[in-house]
Amino acid sequence: MTIAYLNGEYLPLEETRISPMDRGFLFGDGIYEVVPSYGGRMVGFGPHIERMTNGLAAIDIRLDWGEEQWQAVCDRLIEENGGGDLGIYLHVSRGADSKRNHAYPEGVKPTVFGYTFEIPPAPVADRSTTKTFSVTTTEDLRWRRCNIKSTALLGNVIHYNQSHGSGSDETILYNAEGEITEAAACNVFIVKDGVVVTPDTDHQILPGITRLLLVEILRADGSIPIEERVITLDELRHADEVWLTSSTKEVAPVVMVDGVPVGEGEPGPLWERAQTLFSEFKYDY
Ligand code: PDD
Repeated sequence: MTIAYLNGEYLPLEETRISPMDRGFLFGDGIYEVVPSYGGRMVGFGPHIERMTNGLAAIDIRLDWGEEQWQAVCDRLIEENGGGDLGIYLHVSRGADSKRNHAYPEGVKPTVFGYTFEIPPAPVADRSTTKTFSVTTTEDLRWRRCNIKSTALLGNVIHYNQSHGSGSDETILYNAEGEITEAAACNVFIVKDGVVVTPDTDHQILPGITRLLLVEILRADGSIPIEERVITLDELRHADEVWLTSSTKEVAPVVMVDGVPVGEGEPGPLWERAQTLFSEFKYDY
């Protein structure tokens, strides 16, 4: 039985209830986070909470919580739910108003919700046993505020299901100029001639915490050059390696893009190095 947090209470997930007038339900008017935790140790907790705080400020939801409140909720959820390998879902919506009105209401209390779900054990950098990913590509048809981790995810959901419907695992997106943005629920990295490249953070992508940690870890290590710059669809198609990053996948090797093998069609040597470094240093942030 999963124990959830809702507006100050801890209770079984099946017993949680919110109003259908909640603006999270009516408008997708909210911000969320997914924080991974392995055996009670969270990865990137500080950066996750900072991104949540920035997202709430960007859409003017006033929730006066600091890191301590979030830490207390996460610690209790981890403890109540057995402390194994968990994704901690945190969600703040603007709250329930008495009427449906696009205007931000005054005096409405935000709804704060959290629960945990099981995630696979922390990935291990082993080229022969790691799960590999096949992706398709399509034009990014989402909005221009993708840097906000909004609960309004219909654009992502539609794109995600485009690849699932065709038997692939994820959809890599490119803008009208043919530049890679991200995937439906991950950030994208490529490797070409020994250099790791990932798109810059701007309004077209979510500033992923795994992406942030990986860039910092690779820079600190210094043995593999890393660039943040535009990646064209053509570069993706001719990359030696392609990786997806997200909180629940860490660094995931892509072996097929639109039915064509990436490099040798196997996880590459730089993926192995990057995931090894990530496993070693991910708790330092
Ligand atoms: N997805 N880009 C998008 C659109 C995402 O939804 C996510 C995460 C990422 C990777 O961000 P991070 O490294 O902070 O997890 C990039 C989460 C896990 C989700 O929606 O379930």
